[in-house]
Amino acid sequence: MAARISVIGTGYLGATHAACMAELGYEVLGMDVDAEKIAALTAGTVPFYEPGLDELLAKHVASGRLRFTTSYAEVAGFGADVHFICVNTPQRKGEYAADLRYVEAVVDGLAPHLDQPTVIAGKSTVPAGTAVRLTERFLELAPAGAGVEVAWNPEFLREGYAVGDTLRPDRLVIGVASAHAEAALRDVYAPLIEAGTPLVVTDLATAELVKAAANAFLSTKISFINAMAEVCEAAGGDVMQLSEALSYDARIGGRFLVPGLGFGGGCLPKDIRAFMARAGELGVDQALAFLKEVDAINMRRRVRMVDLAREQCDGSFLGKRVAVWGAAFKPNSDDVRDSPALNVAASILLQGAQVTVYDPKANDNAAKLFPTLAYADSALEAARGAHVILHLTEWQEFRELDPEEVGKVTSQRRIVDGRNALAAQRWHEAGWTYRALGRPVVG
Ligand code: UGA
Repeated sequence: MAARISVIGTGYLGATHAACMAELGYEVLGMDVDAEKIAALTAGTVPFYEPGLDELLAKHVASGRLRFTTSYAEVAGFGADVHFICVNTPQRKGEYAADLRYVEAVVDGLAPHLDQPTVIAGKSTVPAGTAVRLTERFLELAPAGAGVEVAWNPEFLREGYAVGDTLRPDRLVIGVASAHAEAALRDVYAPLIEAGTPLVVTDLATAELVKAAANAFLSTKISFINAMAEVCEAAGGDVMQLSEALSYDARIGGRFLVPGLGFGGGCLPKDIRAFMARAGELGVDQALAFLKEVDAINMRRRVRMVDLAREQCDGSFLGKRVAVWGAAFKPNSDDVRDSPALNVAASILLQGAQVTVYDPKANDNAAKLFPTLAYADSALEAARGAHVILHLTEWQEFRELDPEEVGKVTSQRRIVDGRNALAAQRWHEAGWTYRALGRPVVG
């Protein structure tokens, strides 16, 4: 009989994990407290944008291998070999630390129904020490007592590539406190392990730390190249050439070395802060003090972008029209959590400009967060009458635009490329002033 898997929390991470587990051949039950989300998923519709997930979800809802519920009792009664926790762990309001209320709510909701031994595998990003704390809570609340084992199985998927990252991950990490939990997770991931995915088995704390460390490293790499962009601007260098030259050193590598507006989203910014907070609690805050600088460099990019835009508006935003291309925190996603693009758009609006935003997928989510910005249905419409265009999320469709055509609708040919992704020379040849972070003026 096919193994049974439950997935609790069906956001970007959980919905993807559930569909991918069904693809691996398991019977899957997805659970969320958000009835609207569950209704959409049950109908085979993904309530957010993630390339490839729609097809996979529809396929397995239709095959009957993937079902959804809002009931903890049903999840417990499903007899899952492994229950995965995939709820989000946002930043606590007014603090750096992670807010674990959703993870704790899962334990409190599920535990009283667990009367059979089972394995709970957390995938949510949590501070080191959480799995042990949750084990104690299960022991207290679950009728099965010590039969409920907690493991940690951090997730490294990227939004926009979530399906591929889940079905073909570059590694699997499982943190366990018993051989039984290890065996259960090895079984679940057997198809991936057989396909050659490296597996690292650790204790609980290490598994929790791997995730925090990975995101801290990625953030540091981005802020490193953005710090170089600041130096390049001062010295008259070109950070894109510098980045390319560094990338050929195999020890450095070119990935996550793209300078620009920096990182945002629901993961990197809050994860480095939660990591710093946890290090403080553990008495090793000095070890991660550098992440404060990583965060500061990243936030300075947004301020610098606004400054560059203001320069292109001849020193003042008052009465100016600004077009913003991109609202999602990165392309191929409709996620606007801590989006650098929206942060820049909103601060320019507050400085007196009329700002029109266009994003291929994220307009609706952006409008919920920033209803006072104007939204357009196309890049050209957003650009109409603009004194300057700001390219802030590097969707492929922006790269394909013809600078000549765009120039016919704007009031000035001025563009600031916040992602260093447009062909500077092409824009320059069409009569545009092209500005970018960390690079000399073109035009
Ligand atoms: C990130 C990690 O990359 C995943 O491995 C991890 O699983 C996930 O967080 C998570 O913790 O759940 P994600 O938030 O989807 O994934 O986005 P990334 O692709 O990492 O991009 C983050 C931000 O960095 C974006 O705003 C992007 O524009 C920016 N970035 C990325 C740069 O500014 N420069 C780069 O070179 C790369």
